[in-house]
Amino acid sequence: MVENRAVIPQDILTATDYQTHAKACLSSEAWQYLEAGAGKGVTLAANSTIFDDISLMPRPLRNVKGGHTHLTLFGQRFEHPLLLAPIAYQRLFHQDGETMTAVAASAQAGQMVVSSLASQTVEAIIEAAQQPLWFQLYWQGDRLRTLRLLKRALSCGYNAIMFTVDAPVKQAAITLPNHIQAVNLESPLTASALHPNQSMVFDGWMAQAPNWDDVAWLRDQIKGPFLIKGLLHLEDVEKSLELGCDGLVVSNHGGRVLDTVPSSLSVLPAIAKVVSGKACILFDSGIRSGQDAFKALALGADALMIGRPYVWGLASAGALGVAHVVRLMRDELEMTMALSGTRTLAEIKAFNTVILNQ
Ligand code: FNR
Repeated sequence: MVENRAVIPQDILTATDYQTHAKACLSSEAWQYLEAGAGKGVTLAANSTIFDDISLMPRPLRNVKGGHTHLTLFGQRFEHPLLLAPIAYQRLFHQDGETMTAVAASAQAGQMVVSSLASQTVEAIIEAAQQPLWFQLYWQGDRLRTLRLLKRALSCGYNAIMFTVDAPVKQAAITLPNHIQAVNLESPLTASALHPNQSMVFDGWMAQAPNWDDVAWLRDQIKGPFLIKGLLHLEDVEKSLELGCDGLVVSNHGGRVLDTVPSSLSVLPAIAKVVSGKACILFDSGIRSGQDAFKALALGADALMIGRPYVWGLASAGALGVAHVVRLMRDELEMTMALSGTRTLAEIKAFNTVILNQ
């Protein structure tokens, strides 16, 4: 049972202060589902500790008058680069789930990426947002089923598609209560029977996973922006560019899929070099503050997605909590920019604002 409060707790100074409030509001199952990393949690831990290995270089005395965090992505203007990452089943965290997150994204003039595994309909969520949103697509086992889901999202106003590819074989990490479901999905495909010498992984689950041909096909189905989430290998990044992807999300799914893959930040500079302006680079996994956001921007990201921290806000105080988390991180980002002598997101990239410690 979710017990959400509707006011901002008194003691909040930073986004991470919401974490203990969220824990107190959620069942232990929902909390575990939200916080857990895969395996021993090595990647989960590395995602955030790596930010501490990077130093900021202060640049006092520079004129930062007129500074701002505006940006334009695919012709859409946002006030700040802190997008809300796709997070499944948000009614686990608040009785009004995704609609609260959508309201907060709009209130902060930002963007929400709605998960294929949303617990409210894509129509209800976009209506709550009163602005076009982005849709995160999971492969639905075959092209026809995937196309039906894609068309439904496009027809109700989602104007960018983010295809997540790093979690094709992922065990459901929670037994969902009866009233919470992935309401936008058709019933699961029944897997064909396996011969005794076949593998459940290779011949069962992976038989329904997408491949590069499917990416090329999907690209052709979508007129608007098409992003791929979850590529970390440089050859895969190159291939996605060849296939005409408009954007990439450098992400390891918040350390939730394959433990000991690299932290997202450690691979970002090399990916940025390969992409070299040919596509838009989003970054997630491990951002907990505006300083972290600044560092990811300095190392090559055009924009960021935050995951668990906004859910802490959602669980603690609904839309108000999500909006507050975004605002707190944006304030910290602005402060970091000012103390680093940078007025715009482009200047963060152009100046030497961070030092990679060995
Ligand atoms: C996720 N993430 C995720 N990603 C995705 O593409 N589709 C999804 O449905 C989900 N669902 C989901 C549920 C929960 C509970 C979590 C914590 C994460 C991954 C998410 O979009 C993002 O990549 C990470 O959360 C970013 O890491 P941080 O900010 O949580 O460290």
